[in-house]
Amino acid sequence: MSIPSKIITREDVAMLDADDPLARCRDLFQIPDSVIYLDGNSLGALPKSVPPRMSRAIEQEWGVGLIRSWNDADWYPAPQRVGKRIAPLIGAAADEVIVADSTSINLFKVLVAALRMRPGRRRIVGERGNFPTDAYVASGVAELMDAEFVAVEPGAVLDAIDERVAIVSLTHVNYKSGRVYDMAEITRRAHAVGALVVWDLCHTAGAMPCDLNGCDADFAVGCGYKYLNGGPGAPAFVFVAQRHHAALRQPLTGWHGHARPFAFVEGYEAAPGMDRMLVGTAPQMGLISLEAALEAFDGVDMQALRRKSEAMTDLFIRLADQELAGFDFGLATPRDATVRGSQVSLTHPEGYAIMQALIARGVIGDFRAPDILRFGFAVMYLSFGDVWDAVATLKDTMARKAWMAPEFRQRKAVT
Ligand SMILES: Cc1ncc(COP(=O)(O)O)c(C=O)c1O
Repeated sequence: MSIPSKIITREDVAMLDADDPLARCRDLFQIPDSVIYLDGNSLGALPKSVPPRMSRAIEQEWGVGLIRSWNDADWYPAPQRVGKRIAPLIGAAADEVIVADSTSINLFKVLVAALRMRPGRRRIVGERGNFPTDAYVASGVAELMDAEFVAVEPGAVLDAIDERVAIVSLTHVNYKSGRVYDMAEITRRAHAVGALVVWDLCHTAGAMPCDLNGCDADFAVGCGYKYLNGGPGAPAFVFVAQRHHAALRQPLTGWHGHARPFAFVEGYEAAPGMDRMLVGTAPQMGLISLEAALEAFDGVDMQALRRKSEAMTDLFIRLADQELAGFDFGLATPRDATVRGSQVSLTHPEGYAIMQALIARGVIGDFRAPDILRFGFAVMYLSFGDVWDAVATLKDTMARKAWMAPEFRQRKAVT
């Protein structure tokens, strides 16, 4: 998949589609004909495998099976089972991943657990410009544990890792810029000074290959509703390297993390392995939806997915250069595909209104304050033709000044 270096034409783009080994995957998803969906980095599209599975779960397992389904429909072991399905997508072993709670809550659990593993150290290093929940949770943990949270510029992270640091807590692919950290290099540096690393994989899992164990990672968290397509508010996953399991003490000691939840005994006794990362009753419908959604990854070569993602984001950037010159857009994403996740972010002072005008025409991305138009490329259900059409629609929206209409300036609660 190579994009010609000359002016790009619609025919060039058609050739990229003809060459696409993942084109068949689009049919696994239900996407309205009138929509070009470039927001799979916020909420993944609906896999066709989900509605029939959910309908069975609701009507048969809940409606008829009732409470019996915790045993008879295998609801109870779903957190482990779905974790096992996610594991190969992030380079983890099957017994190192479990699905539970939200990313924010899992972050809280692993940050406290990691701090407890480094009793002599009180510093958590994070990055400026990370997704806010990561910084908010790290600050909350620091306050609770009498530690300190220090956020440094992304380029200063390596230098900030020294013997005082207990935890380095970073998001692998930045939610705004799409910039990718070198997981192996940062983990190596942290381990060299005795620190642990927590990775947020929200914009990584399902979007690009990831090799947690190959990088000797310690902890990771990530959500189920973006590139994994589990549905709105789908439960999140958490990874803890096998070598840390024995010492793992997370703070939310609920009954589902107990060694014998149904013994109803007094006193908490942590379950073995990752089971102790569970807290309370699992959101079963969300788990079932996520499990069905993950079928879309069956047989998908993550290296091929990455090649398509790099080609697609390259194409978007090249077309933006070619078609949008003079409209005051900037590029907030690295041009170098090797350090770019599966997204492209453009900047514009009128970004919010422009994105609303674009959405009104069926090209769906999102906006991140103060000025970022964010386009996510969940490449399993996107064609190169979609990219061409999206940029053409953006150009037309700008040329006609369509975004100036008052209805596009009214801020909605979710941007
Ligand atoms: C990097 C990152 N971390 C965490 C979250 C959200 O966490 P939660 O699912 O707990 O709301 C997001 C959501 O967009 C995110 O981009």
